[in-house]
Amino acid sequence: MRVASALLISSVVLWPMAVSAQTRRAPAKPAAPPPAPATQVETPEMKCPTPLGVGVNTEREFCDVLSGRDPASGIIITLPPHRGDVKLMFDLHNRHTYSEEQMKDKRAAYARYTAVIGALTMDNTLISRAVVQSEFRTAADLLDRVSGGAGPAGVKAVAPTGMESITITVPEAENQVSMLGEKLMVDRADGSQTYTAEGPISYWNAYVAVTQMGGQGHFSDPALGINVALDPDLVTSKLPALAAYQHSLPAPPPPADSFDAAAAKRGRVVFNQHCMNCHVGVDGTDNNGGNKLHAPAETGVDGAYAARTVNKAYRTTPLRALWQHPPYFHDGSAATLADVVAHYNRVKSLALTADQQRDLVEYLKSR
Ligand code: HEC
Repeated sequence: MRVASALLISSVVLWPMAVSAQTRRAPAKPAAPPPAPATQVETPEMKCPTPLGVGVNTEREFCDVLSGRDPASGIIITLPPHRGDVKLMFDLHNRHTYSEEQMKDKRAAYARYTAVIGALTMDNTLISRAVVQSEFRTAADLLDRVSGGAGPAGVKAVAPTGMESITITVPEAENQVSMLGEKLMVDRADGSQTYTAEGPISYWNAYVAVTQMGGQGHFSDPALGINVALDPDLVTSKLPALAAYQHSLPAPPPPADSFDAAAAKRGRVVFNQHCMNCHVGVDGTDNNGGNKLHAPAETGVDGAYAARTVNKAYRTTPLRALWQHPPYFHDGSAATLADVVAHYNRVKSLALTADQQRDLVEYLKSR
């Protein structure tokens, strides 16, 4: 799953610079230069393909930065008529999925985000890059909450964290600028990391080995514009064995008294009937080959995250050690396993009784 979701832009302001400071004139010309027009500050027109919503406290409009290489799919900022270079100013944030549940284990809740975006011309020339890095530890690290969520407080689980005020100088000739996410890195306390672009575990292994650890080998992802080929390739041949080892690691078993075993047994029957066509086998996913994906509508989940990926679809999440990592779904919209079951019951019209739903939750807790 490509997660350039971790980027938000807010409060875009244009600051055209005075012509006199920027244009070069032929020295031979005797005529006096025309008077420089006064600098003007304006809010430009911004086309946001995936708005996140409005901040409860700041009242800022937050816009997700999609990752990709096609300027037409980015956040497109149209500059007003101008002379001379233009200064484009905006705030860049990271994007954290917050839940009260997750805060019960402060260490597990920790995340450090490093995100890189590119400002491009519409014919795909890089004008500049911008970076925001921030750490999330407690709710106080959230810059704001975004209204429009389904929860009781009416705020979305996704919230801006960190803030970097960015100024980019856009050359005079450009009338539009596109912002696209280039790279996102999320470091967690347990050492796990997530990167932009999607692919099976071996994709990430190769990415880290070649581009992060300086290993000698090949890694290429046209969607990210990365193409490294260091010969002889010492990485590729080791990927299958490494992936096999990673898949062999056992999921931590649920604590013995954390679920009702008899109910879980009944819940398994419900699961096999309604869930197993996608959550297949021991791992609980039909994506073991890395290819099978589902359109957001198939599971009734928010499609905004998928829209940021190359395939515009979700992988069936493996159901391992579910008890360990609420909230659920990509957007963290289900705070508990009961929320997950209620969600499926509603969007798939399963007509499960209250007992069946409870049993299914116990079964999920046991996985
Ligand atoms: C059409 C295929 C499909 C069916 C049927 C299906 N799922 Fe899913 N499931 C998915 C996909 C795809 C995701 C990832 C969606 C996301 O993360 O937003 C997912 C995510 C989940 C998650 C979140 C796991 C996590 O760690 O975040 C749980 C739990 C889950 N499903 C349980 C169930 C249960 C219980 C049922 C049956 C009632 C079910 N699923 C039926 C495809 C399916």
